[in-house]
Formats: sequence, structure tokens, C-alpha cells
Amino acid sequence: MDSISPNRRFWNRISSAYQREHDPQIGATPRLWGTYAIPDAHLNALGDVTGKRVLELGCGAGQWSRALAAEGATVVGLDLSEAQLAAAAHAMGAARYPLVQGAAEHLPFAAESFDVVFCDYGGLSWAPGHLAVPQAARVLRRGGRLVFNAASPWFEACYDEAGGRATTTLHQDYFGLDTIAEDQGAVSYQLTYGDWIRVLRGAGLVIDDLIEPRPEPGTVNGYNQTDPPDWAHRWPAEMLWVTHKPTD
Ligand SMILES: C[S@@+](CC[C@H](N)C(=O)[O-])C[C@H]1O[C@@H](n2cnc3c(N)ncnc32)[C@H](O)[C@@H]1O
Repeated sequence: MDSISPNRRFWNRISSAYQREHDPQIGATPRLWGTYAIPDAHLNALGDVTGKRVLELGCGAGQWSRALAAEGATVVGLDLSEAQLAAAAHAMGAARYPLVQGAAEHLPFAAESFDVVFCDYGGLSWAPGHLAVPQAARVLRRGGRLVFNAASPWFEACYDEAGGRATTTLHQDYFGLDTIAEDQGAVSYQLTYGDWIRVLRGAGLVIDDLIEPRPEPGTVNGYNQTDPPDWAHRWPAEMLWVTHKPTD
């Protein structure tokens, strides 16, 4: 089933509450990756984007996009939800950038339009990888980079749905993760590590790195404070793929 409509409705419904709860963390300083707010300066995943054409795939309220626009990138923020885009428009600073409503599954851009496509829990978490990755690869110029952060299969497999927290017990089948039922009929997606590699390589991308962000002991998951504090220090809660489209 197509998840575009339910996911759009879901994000429209939760946008205000989500931004109230999470913007103070993810908008606090520029370039923070993921639920543990690890600076890109520590992970070196995105690097310098000055002067580059950058697409954020599922930009939400634009915490990343507005930071990169202020650094001198030519940014486009794409999102499925008009409520999230309204939050991005509201929060836009002096460095203006265009916002586009669309789905990661069908990007409304010509081939080879961007130097960098990236997201942090965006379109590559909320659209099927086998659809979104080839679209991202299509709109990248040769030599361009796709960089994205998402929850890891480890995290999903150890997540106790009933308790609403990560645990040290396997709760879901690794090979059965695939589509993950979220609240209110929304759906997010996960692949096995092997399938991620096959989808990325199948779209013609070269994998440069798989960064496993590791917060310091005791760092709280800003999205779920009931998670055991050392969980992500002991196991990789997220996966940050760094890839590029080859030049020939
Ligand atoms: C968790 S937010 C990511 C934005 C920001 N990095 C953050 O952490 O808040 C997920 C965003 O993905 C958007 N989204 C959901 N499905 C999408 C799709 N198929 N294509 C593009 N964006 C999508 C949602 O509307 C939402 O704004």
C-alpha cells in the first residue's frame, strides 16, 4: 500500500506538537545528527557544503536546511507535509531557501540537479528505500553525495513497542522489520544492512562510509528519555550512510 497519504496526514496532525517538543533540541545549534544530537563536526559526515546545491529530503521545520543556507549552500527543502513546511517557512532566517512539497518516492526535480542530497530521519526513513534511494541517486550530479541518518536495525529490533523504549532484548525479527507501523496509520521503513547495501549499489551509488554515531556514556536520547541512558553507547542506535555517485 502507498504510505504517502497516511504519512502526510500523520505529519500534518503531529507537526505542532512535534516541533514544540523537539525543536528546542534539534534547532538548538546547527548541524546536529539524530536523536542524540551529535554534531556533524564530530562525525564529519556532511562536511563543507558552501556553494553546493543541496536537497534536504524530508526537511521538517528546516533545522538543517536553514543552517546550511546560512553557510552559503543553495538549499532546497522538500517535505511531504504542508504543516511541516509551514513550520520551516515560519522559522526561516535571513538566508532564504525554497521549500517544495513532494515525496521522496517521486522527486519533482530534473536529473543531476544537486551536488548533495541528505536527510536526518527524513524521506529515507519514511519512504521505502527501494523507491527513495534511486530517486535520490537520479537527482544527484555525477560525483555528488547522498548522506543520510536513520534509526539502525539494531534499535528497531530491540525496541519494545508496548513499553515504548529500547531494551536489551530482541523484540522484532531482524528479517521482518521492513515496514514499521507508526501511530495513526503512518508507516516508516527499515531494511536489513544487506538490503541497504544492495539498494544503494543498485542505484549506482558508491558507499564511502557507514558511520555508527556513538554518544558518550549517559547521553540521553532526546526523543525518548526512558531509553536506558547507555543503550546507544553500547549498541548503534543510528546508521549514517555516506555515499557518492561515481563520475563515470
Ligand atoms: C523526523 S522528521 C525529519 C526532519 C528533521 N530532520 C527532524 O528530525 O525533525 C521526518 C520528516 O519526513 C517527512 N516525510 C515523511 N514522509 C515523507 C516522504 N515520503 N517524502 C518526503 N518527506 C517525508 C515528514 O513530513 C517529516 O517532516
